[in-house]
Amino acid sequence: KIVNVKAREILDSRGNPTVEAEVTVRGENPKTDLITGRATVPSGASTGKFEAAEIRDGEDRYLGAGVKKAVTNVNTIINEMLIGQNALNQRRIDRMMLSEDGTDNKSKLGANAILAVSMANLNACAKALNIFTYKFTGGISACKMPMPMMNILNGGAHSSNNIDVQEFMILPVGATTFKEGLRWCAEVYHALKKLLKDKNLSVAVGDEGGFAPDLNNEMEVLDLIIEAVKKAGYIPEKDFKISLDVAASEWKAEVTGKYKLPKKGIELTTDELIDMWSDIVDRYPIFSIEDPLDEEDWDGWKKITEKLGRKIHLVGDDLFVTNVERLKKGIKEKCANAILIKPNQIGSITETIKAVQMAQSHGYIAIMSHRSGETEDTTIADLAVGLNTGFIKTGAPCRSERTAKYNQLLRIEEKL
Ligand code: PGA
Ligand code: ZN
Repeated sequence: KIVNVKAREILDSRGNPTVEAEVTVRGENPKTDLITGRATVPSGASTGKFEAAEIRDGEDRYLGAGVKKAVTNVNTIINEMLIGQNALNQRRIDRMMLSEDGTDNKSKLGANAILAVSMANLNACAKALNIFTYKFTGGISACKMPMPMMNILNGGAHSSNNIDVQEFMILPVGATTFKEGLRWCAEVYHALKKLLKDKNLSVAVGDEGGFAPDLNNEMEVLDLIIEAVKKAGYIPEKDFKISLDVAASEWKAEVTGKYKLPKKGIELTTDELIDMWSDIVDRYPIFSIEDPLDEEDWDGWKKITEKLGRKIHLVGDDLFVTNVERLKKGIKEKCANAILIKPNQIGSITETIKAVQMAQSHGYIAIMSHRSGETEDTTIADLAVGLNTGFIKTGAPCRSERTAKYNQLLRIEEKL
């Protein structure tokens, strides 16, 4: 039984406030100990237009980014509503919050308030049963460690260099365990750091821990990554593949309707952009491209899926925003063949699970993901295993809010 729900305002990895919630539960016997589960919510920078709404206070505190209203919603409305409820019924807990909110995008209570409580409830249940959250989520079917899609170089909205593509990730496809794959990735990260230093380029890191050196174009980055893989003693294609997150929704030019690469200033049509990705796929060992096109360019997505869908994974992040209605449309119209899963895009655990299950039952891969603004919370590591997503995107092997997730996965692998 839930005895108390409480929230507070804490800081995320960019120094912006975010919501932390605690759900306290007690067993049927009033003499049993109180158990508290905790969770915090992340926040994006290149947010999709169709994401659930975080509530921010506006005005002066924290340059308008305060979350006191969301915190108050947890401490009053949500707390009163959930006291006495059976925490083990996660779906009912989520449903109660969603119906109290009543809006399409959770703008009344705030997706940041609802998700914090939803995740804290999940963690409280696991803690009360003395098991890991992955085990509570997936039971005996939780059996697959995810492959890291590790961000090592940043451009776009996550950096101030000349690269338009937001993220370059490496995947240790030849590794046989998570632990081994994680080590391989860290070794390539260090090899890349040395290469950058040797070229007198910056090794300062971006929001997700990847480097953000002043390079001129995407090909230069890809060549450098291939070089780093080889320097670390691995074979590109056999041991490592590369994934891109373009975040092309950031590129749509309002006036011309074309894609304007923000840093290079070039304008391209949808077809020209698809040709550009196709050329990169022919030249490099690409595993996936995330958001290669805008979140509203469904025709373009259909075309690129037809053209490249058999060779690589085309991942909908801003396109799907972890929303089953948008995913349904994608499946029907044959747009994309993979979905990025960010619990805070949709705002509850139940809806996150639904999105993963819908994707998996239609042959789309699901990739569990962090946000660019994160905290030390590790719930997504457990969700990746609990839901057998097979892949996790959670930044570089640098910055503790990123390594916290990898380190939790190391603990989970020992259990599995
Ligand atoms: P965001 O970036 O968290 O800033 O949205 C991550 C991504 O686009 O995948
Ligand atoms: Zn993305």
